[in-house]
Amino acid sequence: MKKNIILIGFMGVGKGTIARELAKQSGYYAVDTDDLIQSLTNKKIKTIFKESGEKHFRGLEQKTANWIQNNLTKTIVSVGGGFYKVDNLKKLGTVIYLNSPFDDIYNRIITSPNAKNKLKKRPLFQKLNNAKELYNKRVKEYEKLCDIKIEVNNKTEKSIVNNILKKIKNNGL
Ligand code: S3P
Repeated sequence: MKKNIILIGFMGVGKGTIARELAKQSGYYAVDTDDLIQSLTNKKIKTIFKESGEKHFRGLEQKTANWIQNNLTKTIVSVGGGFYKVDNLKKLGTVIYLNSPFDDIYNRIITSPNAKNKLKKRPLFQKLNNAKELYNKRVKEYEKLCDIKIEVNNKTEKSIVNNILKKIKNNGL
């Protein structure tokens, strides 16, 4: 691995889970932009949205992107679903898009053991219709921005991670 790996994709697709499994199998560290923002502000993401609004949160994502660009190398980075809007995404590393149909993402969330919390902590997943609309809008952007697209639907964590590591190796990334 020569550069950072940046995992993008919609809320709930499993970016954090895959990042942690990638770390385990590759020996590189994994960090998550929402975690970085929470540690920077000492606030939960949903509290930042509630107190200061989405625009402020997007500013914190840009600040985090700048920090990653200046400070991280050879690190696996999972990012929030809207992080793709930062102006330096392509400078951060190899961008990998985890793709799954909306209905499967939703099912993955609601059948997980802590489904309630997973929904509650995501301000933009409160209304199903709005989330679906956001999904339809964003998939096109994810497609445009990524270097590598990985289908994750009905795949095991292990096979997704192997697929990512293989593609990185084959492309000399
Ligand atoms: C967001 C996704 C969330 C979090 C915030 C906004 C989005 O991260 O950054 O609630 O705009 O899609 P996950 O993709 O990890 O849920």
